[in-house]
Amino acid sequence: MVTQGQNEFDLRGKTVLELGAGVGLPGLTAAMLGASRVLLTDIEPLLPGLSRKVEANGMGNVVEVGKLVWGSDESLASLDEFDLVLMSDVFFDREEMESLGKTLKKACGEKTRVWASTEIRPWTGDCLSVLADMGFGVFELQSPLGPCRSSTAKADECSGPFVAFCLMPVSPNEAGRAPATFYSC
Ligand SMILES: C[S@@+](CC[C@H](N)C(=O)[O-])C[C@H]1O[C@@H](n2cnc3c(N)ncnc32)[C@H](O)[C@@H]1O
Repeated sequence: MVTQGQNEFDLRGKTVLELGAGVGLPGLTAAMLGASRVLLTDIEPLLPGLSRKVEANGMGNVVEVGKLVWGSDESLASLDEFDLVLMSDVFFDREEMESLGKTLKKACGEKTRVWASTEIRPWTGDCLSVLADMGFGVFELQSPLGPCRSSTAKADECSGPFVAFCLMPVSPNEAGRAPATFYSC
């Protein structure tokens, strides 16, 4: 994934936010690939474990750990825009998706990339539909090294049990329809 389309995938010097980081593997990988600042976030009980991973990998100069509860006013108030937002296995509860979408909108500027990977489960499509209804274009990466195609957020059309997506914030007047063209993922 990181070798295709060097300009899009070159993480050197990029700022990276990971949401629902858990163990923080994508964010730590981004740091290894040259990101200049990585913020690993999750709910409070997960933070000590994340901090230990940062320390164990000697990445404290680049990687920070912080509490970020999706959609909470407190978390959104201090949230900056990032070059890249990473999410792994966070599409598991439809009820949480509006809060996640609010958080994504706060973290996204015009050039922000949002990459998510997930196991496809019966409720994954519902979760992605909430984000699509909030105005996100949802595009499946057909394979880690292949081109993007529009998935229109239908999980049963996805190509395998584990899928990577890019999400693209769409301006309010375009909400609900996928853009005709989009960046190379
Ligand atoms: C299924 S785990 C995935 C963890 C990790 N990203 C991975 O792939 O192993 C979902 C993660 O989302 C976090 N999470 C769930 N609801 C959240 C919320 N409302 N705000 C912030 N994080 C949340 C959980 O604490 C958990 O770490």
